[in-house]
Amino acid sequence: MPQVFIKTYGCQMNERDSEAVAAQLAARGYTLAPDETSADVVLLNTCSVRDLAEQKALGKMSAIAGVARKQGRHPVLGFLGCMAQSRGEELVQSGARLVVGTQKFHRVGEHLDSLLHGRETHIVDTAEEAGSQAAIREHLPGPGGQRPVTAFVSIMQGCNQHCTFCIVPATRGLERSRTIPDIVAEVRELVDRGVREITLLGQIVTSFGKRDYPVKDGRSAFVQLIEAVHEVEGLQRLRFTSPHPKGYGADLIEAFGRLPKLVEHAHLPVQSGSNRILKEMHRGYTRERFLSLIEQLRQVQPGIAITTDIIVGFPGETEEDFEQTVSLCREVEFDQAYAFKYSQRRDTPAASMPGQLPESVIEERHARLLATINELASRKYAELVGSTVEILVEGPSRRNAARFEGRTRTNRIVIFEGDERHRGELLKIQVERAGAFTLYGIPVLTGIDDEPTPALTALSHS
Ligand code: SAH
Ligand code: F3S
Repeated sequence: MPQVFIKTYGCQMNERDSEAVAAQLAARGYTLAPDETSADVVLLNTCSVRDLAEQKALGKMSAIAGVARKQGRHPVLGFLGCMAQSRGEELVQSGARLVVGTQKFHRVGEHLDSLLHGRETHIVDTAEEAGSQAAIREHLPGPGGQRPVTAFVSIMQGCNQHCTFCIVPATRGLERSRTIPDIVAEVRELVDRGVREITLLGQIVTSFGKRDYPVKDGRSAFVQLIEAVHEVEGLQRLRFTSPHPKGYGADLIEAFGRLPKLVEHAHLPVQSGSNRILKEMHRGYTRERFLSLIEQLRQVQPGIAITTDIIVGFPGETEEDFEQTVSLCREVEFDQAYAFKYSQRRDTPAASMPGQLPESVIEERHARLLATINELASRKYAELVGSTVEILVEGPSRRNAARFEGRTRTNRIVIFEGDERHRGELLKIQVERAGAFTLYGIPVLTGIDDEPTPALTALSHS
């Protein structure tokens, strides 16, 4: 059976798409290879959001092609996803035999069959396909045959927002949503297989189902979906990403206070703290509106963790605009923030705006912003030392395979001495130490028989 290696660049949506492709290929009899060295097929699922992501994928593919050539091997090389969508045919010139766009992931299997049986020499399939948003559905069993504790469920594709810096509307197309019953059925199947935490995924999840489900009792389609998924028995935690701040209406904010499975974590990509830049970015909110959303979320859920995305060096960004971004970070005290250097993307309005900044200015501001973000976040992590947090145990730690890890509802990674018995358990952990965006601690419950240990008894009596 042909061996396939799939490597993913970019966001959780891309990870999810790759998983669905892998599950589809496994069902057709392909074997999934752990790396490219002996693979008959190498597929790179690409990202276009920043130029760096594209360069990484292109570099990797040419390195793989070079090594294979030296060894006299001729694997089928292919690009999937966002960069495949935007570059298309051009990738065939650089040696790819398969180029599959963002609405055609479900066709990878049949295309590979055609290539491997010699019916075609190369295939470029980047057309639109109605209904393709419902085709990202199949899941792989957990790593090493273990049951997966967390899973991602793709609820929609595309984005209509057209932020002036963003290539996503071009690579992913217009918003298209799955139906609520279809999504709930997928969640139910996953929970039956042992999954305890679901993350709903899409490029702009807060716009889910806008055209398909009218507002009902003041609740948007997205909140209707959250409520329907929340009903699934056995599900313990519900997350979503990526939302848009303008999608945090009164109904969604209220849901955070009302629905116990909805975790205390909200991601609100702010992009900039300057109203002038926000307007140029076509974000649809002001700094003041953003701050008021945070305040409302903290009112319904005082312990809520707030995370964000920020772009540094958007065209025309002055030192003063940048300072406003830094001051916004200090005002909000984000639990975590992802800071990106502005990258010019083809055919986006921002790419041809005046005032493009030199790389050196962007680098310098980026470093300053990172220092602020790290200072704020490490203070928050340090505050947790000595407290008891609840985690959902996911499996062996990605940083240290001898340990186990889980996450708090606020999405903080916690590492502890654990073993397979703990997988899927909700465990109380006494935090002993804080590292860079990681907590270390010891369980205060045995976790198997739920007998309180003396430590917890003392805690609950205090
Ligand atoms: N909602 C989308 C966001 C797109 S990309 C999603 O998660 O799919 C994620 C982040 O990348 C954005 O929030 C933004 O901060 C950053 N980004 C998007 N375009 C960018 C560009 N041209 N340069 C730098 N960063 C960018
Ligand atoms: Fe991109 Fe803005 Fe949509 S960042 S994905 S155009 S909300």
